[in-house]
Amino acid sequence: MPIVEREAIGTDLGDEDAIFHIQAQNGQLGATVGSWCSILRVEVQSTILLFPGSLWCFTATLSVDIDPMSGSLPTLGDVLAHWTQNFRERGIDEPESSAELILAHAVDKNMVHEVDLSRAMTKTVAARMEHMCRRRMKREPVAYIIGEWDFHDLTLHIRPPVLIPRPETEELAALALAGVHACGSGSKLRESGALLDVGSGSGALAVFLLTRLPGWRGVSVDISPVACELTTLNARRHRVFDRLSVHQGDIHLDSTFRDLASAGPYDIVVSNPPYITEAEMAALQPEVALHEDRGALCGGTDGMVVTRRLLNMAASLLRPHTGRLYLELGLGQPAEVERLVRHGLHDRLRYLHTRKDFTNRERFCELAACSGADGSS
Ligand SMILES: C[S@@+](CC[C@H](N)C(=O)[O-])C[C@H]1O[C@@H](n2cnc3c(N)ncnc32)[C@H](O)[C@@H]1O
Repeated sequence: MPIVEREAIGTDLGDEDAIFHIQAQNGQLGATVGSWCSILRVEVQSTILLFPGSLWCFTATLSVDIDPMSGSLPTLGDVLAHWTQNFRERGIDEPESSAELILAHAVDKNMVHEVDLSRAMTKTVAARMEHMCRRRMKREPVAYIIGEWDFHDLTLHIRPPVLIPRPETEELAALALAGVHACGSGSKLRESGALLDVGSGSGALAVFLLTRLPGWRGVSVDISPVACELTTLNARRHRVFDRLSVHQGDIHLDSTFRDLASAGPYDIVVSNPPYITEAEMAALQPEVALHEDRGALCGGTDGMVVTRRLLNMAASLLRPHTGRLYLELGLGQPAEVERLVRHGLHDRLRYLHTRKDFTNRERFCELAACSGADGSS
């Protein structure tokens, strides 16, 4: 069997003594390239500390025993198969698509079908794959690892711990857009209008809607500074930043309400508020519970703390008569919103529709403003 000496570069999640850790991890290093060769000897030449106390980058000489069947170095396809298998064995959710997306990004592509899987693996790609796949092994969501995620046809920057946009929220965006288009071809709304995105997170809703409504302006609000930075970044990426005002604030505060109201009235208010109950939080999968912002998920004991505040504010923010509020909520919550509105707790709002998501669950509400902020009809 041919034995060759090769330079290697890699990263390792180690402790203070990187050399010790890497030596101790020879088996792991072997596992990384082990599907096509086995490591006989590792000599570490240098180490660089990338993040204090955690991530080391090293260069080493590996004596490797090349697979006698192929007699050649691994291809990107071999690496893909290797990590897919690793993820599957460790019980990682969506092992195939995780490995495919990570590989694509390791070679600066978006999708695996753009990658020539017969290409030989390089040191740089090996190191990138190793680093990203180890994060996935710790149940970090792929979107955080690759730093982006698609929302309809837009690719958004994504950064932990800001909520990763979900497919249901694409449906909410489509509902709001359909509401504007339903106004008829002669309607002024098609030409210009104002929207407010409450709890903007990555900016998915506001940015998507503004790209589709070129004559509109928007305001976004989020309590999280990181979320506001991300909304800004995505608004710039999709060239709507000149029409979006990004506001950081807590909607429970009167000062935030006043700021939002002074930029209104809004033809559309959209929101995917935190709606998971305290009890449901305990049952979340590790990808969500360990990595996504609790403040983006948990809506208090009944999951409706932010939603109730939004209902209290909405009539004063919406354009009287024509303004619409679109909400994405948890199971059972649309019925509760309908009950609150129909029983007169929000007498300046009218409940229009409950809509189902693609799994046929009632998840969205559409409400209308029925009078002016002073209560006039
Ligand atoms: C479920 S996430 C939705 C993010 C984004 N709109 C989406 O759909 O992907 C809820 C967002 O509301 C924000 N949020 C939670 N409580 C808030 C509050 N009191 N005031 C303003 N924003 C809040 C969170 O920071 C989070 O970004």
